[in-house]
Amino acid sequence: MNILELKSVTKTYNIGSEKPVYALKGIDFAAKSGESIAIQGVSGSGKSTLLNIIGCLDSLTSGEYYLDGEKVQFSNNKHIAKIRNKKIGFVLQNFGLLNDRYVSDNIALPLLLGNISIGKADKLALSAAKSAGIDQLYDKKVKKLSGGEMQRVAIARAIVTDPEIILADEPTGSLDKATGRQIVEMLVQMAQSGKTVIIVTHDDSVAEMCSRRFYIEDGQIREVI
Ligand SMILES: Nc1ncnc2c1ncn2[C@@H]1O[C@H](COP(=O)(O)OP(=O)(O)O)[C@@H](O)[C@H]1O
Ligand SMILES: [Mg+2]
Repeated sequence: MNILELKSVTKTYNIGSEKPVYALKGIDFAAKSGESIAIQGVSGSGKSTLLNIIGCLDSLTSGEYYLDGEKVQFSNNKHIAKIRNKKIGFVLQNFGLLNDRYVSDNIALPLLLGNISIGKADKLALSAAKSAGIDQLYDKKVKKLSGGEMQRVAIARAIVTDPEIILADEPTGSLDKATGRQIVEMLVQMAQSGKTVIIVTHDDSVAEMCSRRFYIEDGQIREVI
């Protein structure tokens, strides 16, 4: 079964203005658990827009989005916040961490936004740190870490709520090639253990590591076979 499915999704920015931007022009796309999916395309082609809609960070203009068989209601803020917190983990190019805080705080943050005791949050955060191979950095401040280590913290934070879907927007963009490869290997492994992982990348060698590849061009998506 598809964990997520987009049907005829469009996204237009600046609707009603003199210069509307037709970022997505009718996207049909579906993903299953266990898949690692690369999304490529030139700068400005709509990759981040697509990922943000899948992650419920942005709304669609028309079309439908089904998550776990349920239609996503973008106008229902509570429902959207719940999906974002429970079902989606996000990894960004520039990590998006609180640099002055400890690794442990950063990883636990999504849990503390929910209703959970500090003790339980700490236990889950440590377990996520282990999965990301950084439990030995747990009590360090983020600003003391290397880029690769920071991205592992971001991955630990993304998986701490045990989401079904992990979205990564240019996760290797700030890393050297070898470190980037390790990060993608980790994400692909998470897919193999049953998650759905979607990686936006302009790096062919990253895309080749994924189980499926898509290309966005002129607001349309096609699979690269
Ligand atoms: N918040 C926004 N407001 C207006 N236009 C936007 C906004 N976000 C993105 N765009 C435009 O939508 C198009 C797709 O952008 P984006 O999804 O960021 O592309 P990519 O991630 O592939 O570089 C671009 O033309 C971009 O300028
Ligand atoms: Mg982008």
